Amino acid sequence: MDNPVPDYLAEVAEACASLTSGEPASYIPELASVDPDRYGVAMATIDGALYSVGDARHEFTIQSISKAFVYGLAVRERGLTEVLRKVDVEPSGDPFDELSLEDGTGRPRNPMINAGAITTHALVGGDGVSSAGRFEEIHRLLCDLAGRELSVDEEVWASEMSVSDRNLAIAHLLRSHGIISDSPEEVVSAYVRQCAVLVTAEDLAMMAATLANAGVQPVTGQRIFSGHQVRHLLSVMLTCGMYDSAGDWVSNVGIPAKSGVGGGIIGALPGQVGIATFAPRLDPHGSSVRGIETFERLSHDMGLHLM
Ligand code: DON
Repeated sequence: MDNPVPDYLAEVAEACASLTSGEPASYIPELASVDPDRYGVAMATIDGALYSVGDARHEFTIQSISKAFVYGLAVRERGLTEVLRKVDVEPSGDPFDELSLEDGTGRPRNPMINAGAITTHALVGGDGVSSAGRFEEIHRLLCDLAGRELSVDEEVWASEMSVSDRNLAIAHLLRSHGIISDSPEEVVSAYVRQCAVLVTAEDLAMMAATLANAGVQPVTGQRIFSGHQVRHLLSVMLTCGMYDSAGDWVSNVGIPAKSGVGGGIIGALPGQVGIATFAPRLDPHGSSVRGIETFERLSHDMGLHLM
């Protein structure tokens, strides 16, 4: 019997490609020059079948989507109790680059905003690790999740470093509260490198499918996270992954997700599929316009909403 998925994805892609509102991120100069009309969708099942349409093999920077996986890595290495001492799990309702620190303790509200992600980045690798060693570990994790070797976009890294005053300010404040202890400059440099790792929508679908598959990469069979770690990670993605539009997302799409200013969005439906979209035009919250529309259609048509 013919598989209906590729035809269905092509239909959704055609409908969503007509959306032309929004612009690529411009606060990172290098991202402003990407082709705004690229568009790809990929879907990977927990048994490793991969379906994709459009620009699903075009590389772009992972950006904030990395935050979800690095949070999982911090929890895997340090344990949830220790990580929770440094980063909370409450939706902030604020934009991704707001400080959103808890009164008194200075704990970032959640690990999906920049303040929380800089903190979880700095938790990786144990005490005394160099920032290069820390990046190495994070890079290994992302490669294992994708099931292939990923490279770094050095131009995007350098471009974001040239405008990183806000992230540096956040890192300095985090250190003043004792939330991080390493040099803010080194932490931000390696965090920005983490955000500049190049992926495709197909890679991201496989990475999301690893979460859908309770932490086991569907193709390589490697166990990357425990089932318990994944349950926690997906809970935080559901409540905080789409920042100050998380409520809309949960109402309309209803699956744990994470967006990035490179134009990617991932969604992971436990026990079923990982989905990824790539389309650089962003809404005011920093999430892909076509990506959101794609997820809304898929969720509606395929009955993916968790509730
Ligand atoms: O730290 C930053 O601002 C970027 N490297 C990542 C931000 C991002 O992707 C926000 N998500 N939609």
